[in-house]
Amino acid sequence: MANVDQHLLQVESLAKTYPTRSRDLVILKNITLTLRGGQSAAIMGPSGSGKSTLLNILGTLEPPTSGRVSLDGTDPFILPPKELAGFRNRRVGFVFQDHHLLPQCSVLENVLMPTLARPSSRTRGDATSTNGGEDNLTRAKRLLERVGLSERLDHRPAELSGGERQRVAIARAMVNRPALLLADEPTGNLDRTTAENIAELLAQVYREDDTILIVVTHSQRLAERFDQRWELIDGTLVSSKAS
Ligand SMILES: Nc1ncnc2c1ncn2[C@@H]1O[C@H](COP(=O)(O)OP(=O)(O)OP(=O)(O)O)[C@@H](O)[C@H]1O
Ligand SMILES: [Mg+2]
Repeated sequence: MANVDQHLLQVESLAKTYPTRSRDLVILKNITLTLRGGQSAAIMGPSGSGKSTLLNILGTLEPPTSGRVSLDGTDPFILPPKELAGFRNRRVGFVFQDHHLLPQCSVLENVLMPTLARPSSRTRGDATSTNGGEDNLTRAKRLLERVGLSERLDHRPAELSGGERQRVAIARAMVNRPALLLADEPTGNLDRTTAENIAELLAQVYREDDTILIVVTHSQRLAERFDQRWELIDGTLVSSKAS
């Protein structure tokens, strides 16, 4: 549903080139896309086609060589480094192929981690500071309930199954109510049934907060759960139809 506060991701003529000794390696060229809150897209393409590179740029982890990215009206790449880090922490959630959970922290602590870094939190590191009208602790617990892990709050990542770890990673990525949720092969290391459950969960949770979701996947089945399907071919995004 359209509303004035709807999240908006706009990418215009984005290109990425890596300089190498012999020549410039062109990875992405002329990528243009628009996604709004509550919309999702899957990006497919062969290994080395630039999917992770594109996701990293959209997640503000690295700058494009040229072109423009705008998330909710802000071009993150013109921000000073400290502000960029804050912008990323507040606006972007990541789910990686390997969960990247902190092994020494509990499930609940892992999910709360991004809220501790929020520069806007009045009392830094305070799990009770508010986050969209709900305190962080309540939200973290609610998200963990949402992903079916209420009974695992005190577990360490090593005491979870692979699918459970990815569910924690999803809850963590959503805890700050990001405008943009990016998932890079989130089910790549999971068996098929678990992968489908994780995909289903991703396809549901992002909508609840009107987040924009972009998922990189090698799985056509997973891709078909999302609103748009794109393939990276020769550095450009080609729309691919559902089969
Ligand atoms: N820092 C870098 N310097 C030079 N080349 C790089 C750099 N980072 C990535 N590349 C190259 O960019 C290309 C795209 O890499 P990327 O990781 O985006 O591929 P991908 O589509 O995610 O592949 P996969 O499906 O295997 O994960 C690769 O050929 C890689 O070697
Ligand atoms: Mg990749």
